[in-house]
Amino acid sequence: MRNSTLDIRRSAGAVGAEIRGVDLRDPLDDATFGEIRQAFHDHGVVFFRDQHITPEQHVAFAERFGPINVNRFFTPVPGHPRIAEVRKEPDQKKNIGEVWHADHSYDQVPALGSMLLAREVPEYGGDTMFASMAAAYAALSDGLKRTLDGLRAVHSSRHVFGAKAESRGAELSTRLHNPELATQDAVHPVVIRHPETGQRCLYVNRSFTTHIEGWTQEESAPLLDFLYRHGERPEFTCRFRWENGSIALWDNRSTWHFAVNDYHGQRRLMHRITIEGVALG
Ligand code: SIN
Repeated sequence: MRNSTLDIRRSAGAVGAEIRGVDLRDPLDDATFGEIRQAFHDHGVVFFRDQHITPEQHVAFAERFGPINVNRFFTPVPGHPRIAEVRKEPDQKKNIGEVWHADHSYDQVPALGSMLLAREVPEYGGDTMFASMAAAYAALSDGLKRTLDGLRAVHSSRHVFGAKAESRGAELSTRLHNPELATQDAVHPVVIRHPETGQRCLYVNRSFTTHIEGWTQEESAPLLDFLYRHGERPEFTCRFRWENGSIALWDNRSTWHFAVNDYHGQRRLMHRITIEGVALG
């Protein structure tokens, strides 16, 4: 049996683990990659430190998990159309991602995960929080679990990335593109079975879920709001402090994330790659 060189330490009780002992500038052998993938499934989000990799190495690592999903709305990194920039400049007040969400839930086939690499971090602030939707689901009562079974929810990109989106202030518009492509609406089960782990996970989120299928928005709001407040409970979360060269790789089916916007006057520049997923059931 192979002796692992990886050191995997949990970040919190429900979600997250930091992986040490790997240098992503080197090609990964299958056994090491298998351990990383297992940790990703076990913890929902995995973190790496001091990975000063090139965009090509970033793409190559992401591709080990699956094909890349090119984000239609974010500014690409110059010369690297498959990598999206998540940037906030010192004179900007709004950031990207300051609402709990799961990336791409508005797609018919939502993304497997996202890999964010810190290129330039503020001196303080700009952490990212993660929440486990498997833990959140498991903590619900049997009665509510039965009620959620069979419900489906509608997710949309229009109100976030479309031309009339409230969030599309002049400042964010410089970082978001193609509002005409914000036509995606998708319907997914409110509780999914995770395609790899088989775990049941809550699959609604504050950013992109608009209503329960067959219910009005007004009827949906109290139930969705309860699920959001429940999913945000501190015991389901962890918080990651970035350094230049840090990477977070999160599972968009089993986690939410939230970008804390507490570093006005400083630059924060991240490179994000999103990985294609499979249809959810
Ligand atoms: C995102 O929501 O994808 C961005 C997260 C972050 O910038 O921390």
